[in-house]
Amino acid sequence: MSKSIIIANWKMNPENLKEAERLFSGIIKSISDIKKTEIVICPPFIFLPYFTKAIKSEEKLIKISKKIKIGAQDLFFEDSGAYTGEISAPMLYDIGARYAIIGHSERRNPPFSSLGGTIGETNLEINKKIKAALRAGLQPILCVGENLRDENHEYLNFIKIQIEECLDGISKNSISKVIVAYEPVWAIGNGARPATPEEFYEMKIFIRKILSDKFGVKFISGARIIYGGSVDDKNVESFIKEGKADGFLPGRASLDIKKFSQIIKICETSNN
Ligand code: PGA
Repeated sequence: MSKSIIIANWKMNPENLKEAERLFSGIIKSISDIKKTEIVICPPFIFLPYFTKAIKSEEKLIKISKKIKIGAQDLFFEDSGAYTGEISAPMLYDIGARYAIIGHSERRNPPFSSLGGTIGETNLEINKKIKAALRAGLQPILCVGENLRDENHEYLNFIKIQIEECLDGISKNSISKVIVAYEPVWAIGNGARPATPEEFYEMKIFIRKILSDKFGVKFISGARIIYGGSVDDKNVESFIKEGKADGFLPGRASLDIKKFSQIIKICETSNN
């Protein structure tokens, strides 16, 4: 069985480097004896160099660097050029990042899009970003998820199209490097209800079927399908046991040292 993976999506938090350092070292303290879980911290771009440097230079961190990796929350699909404000996959790899979240729903449907001018990311852009990540040696975490569930189950087609378009042209040999995060939009953020483990499990089977139809069953045996959307220390165990989740993408809970450490501990003990 492959290790379960916990990917902390800090989003645009915390407000300053001091607080980010405090959070990071709190997490480090909690993971010293982890064996069956991989941890990826995805801070805002501006804090990335601090964490990647810390992992390389601090003795204790060198020991645990096999268990903890640093990821980005996005990247741009070109490798260099006149793209003001953008950050490329090779730049991220060079600074020490090894993962990248791609196609998060807050980038597909940004909350500020009502101000006009921002249309949000399309499956085509996300596809190019996934290819750029793989080219540079980063493991992409592809986020998919429907906005709403309808009685006619049209949302299943929506997920199928997201996956097929976002993974179009990816080679069979690369597909096991892509982590698919099922994050229903209705389950993310304050006041949302998380999916149930059963809802996730059904979706996991459905996503595996789409992947195996597209790439062939033998190429997807190592592919991981993880859950995100109001993950916390209370529901994580049932997602592992009943939902068979290969890992998690917590947002808010990853900013709380106690909750995040507890999530790690539960993954470590529930994953046989
Ligand atoms: P949440 O966010 O855990 O705060 O719901 C998850 C995500 O958006 O990745």
